[in-house]
Amino acid sequence: MDGYNEEVHCPFCESDDVTLMSLFGSAQLVRQFYCNKCKSAFEFIKWTEHSQGEEEVSKVANHRNEAGVVGSGTMGAGIAQVLAVCGYNVILFDVKEEIVSSSITGIHRRLDRLSEKNKLTVEQAELAKKRLRPVTALSEMKNCQFVIEAAPEKIEIKKEIFMELDKHCIEEAILATNTSSFSVTEIGSITKRPEKVAGLHFFNPVPLMPLVEVIKGERTSGNTMRKLTELGREIGKIPVSCSDTPGFIVNRIARPFYNEALKIRNERTASAEQIDRIMKKAGGFKMGPFELQDLIGIDINFSTTVSVHEGFYGDSRFRPNYSQQRKVQAGQLGRKSGRGFYSYES
Ligand SMILES: NC(=O)c1ccc[n+]([C@@H]2O[C@H](COP(=O)([O-])OP(=O)(O)OC[C@H]3O[C@@H](n4cnc5c(N)ncnc54)[C@H](O)[C@@H]3O)[C@@H](O)[C@H]2O)c1
Repeated sequence: MDGYNEEVHCPFCESDDVTLMSLFGSAQLVRQFYCNKCKSAFEFIKWTEHSQGEEEVSKVANHRNEAGVVGSGTMGAGIAQVLAVCGYNVILFDVKEEIVSSSITGIHRRLDRLSEKNKLTVEQAELAKKRLRPVTALSEMKNCQFVIEAAPEKIEIKKEIFMELDKHCIEEAILATNTSSFSVTEIGSITKRPEKVAGLHFFNPVPLMPLVEVIKGERTSGNTMRKLTELGREIGKIPVSCSDTPGFIVNRIARPFYNEALKIRNERTASAEQIDRIMKKAGGFKMGPFELQDLIGIDINFSTTVSVHEGFYGDSRFRPNYSQQRKVQAGQLGRKSGRGFYSYES
């Protein structure tokens, strides 16, 4: 750290109670700090241009960049993790403190694992942990540039969240939904800023899956689409823009994949294990349809099918399957509940 230990003040609250988290680069030295007072992460860049005889200058590279994530379950936790690793101060909401705390513990565990595998440095993992702030009030999102909602796939829940966010968030904030199947237009219309509402549909597990669908509602502006596309790229994803149709692209194609597999199992033509094995061996899929339902959450998968079916006015190609509903009614939701088509109780 020689030569870089001069006093540093937080650019947001002026406090000098800051911790140097990491230092990297050569011609351009980047020092990442964490402010212990206002809990912001920030960077200083020092350009060294001795060849041109210029003096070193240092400047603030990052302004406070807050992003909100609503719902800290399977998807919300993954989205929060990716945003925090990429430098966002993440405000993570859930309905109960114990839920959001346990989600943060899970993210910490995954970040530690990534640093053990040398996918992140210890400093990067520690910095990402410090960027996560758990909350149980949506009003805490008031300064966020972006809020991504990943609450359960229930339209009434989503509408209520968007009404609240619209009330609390700064005017320029973009509000995105991770819905798998609902109309982004319908969700946006509940707010006074439909031009700033869009879909941002990630795939599970978020840190590993490269694709993100950016969905344009009828009233979503081009600027909102551009900003979300940029955000997608910034966090290392491949954004694909889609129009607001039931199931968008991937979930629409995926419905028959799950439904036909359920029918084959119900007819006893093949078991879940056999179907999964065949799809992996013969089809080259990483996971079979039953393993995938367990990973996604059978409740989430079922709600998505119901919604796509309704969205296409009852088109029989998308008709939900009773046996999937039975799993939901039995509380056998997949990995998250310890049992789905397979057992995870060890
Ligand atoms: N699971 C997947 O593979 C997947 C993939 C893509 C998109 N999605 C979509 O992401 C969203 C979330 O799915 P998930 O799998 O993370 O669900 P999940 O059940 O794992 O998590 C939902 C979280 O929302 C919280 N919650 C409940 N009521 C809430 C409320 N009123 N306000 C805010 N949060 C509330 C729950 O406590 C829970 O932590 C859904 O819209 C789903 O369709 C899921």
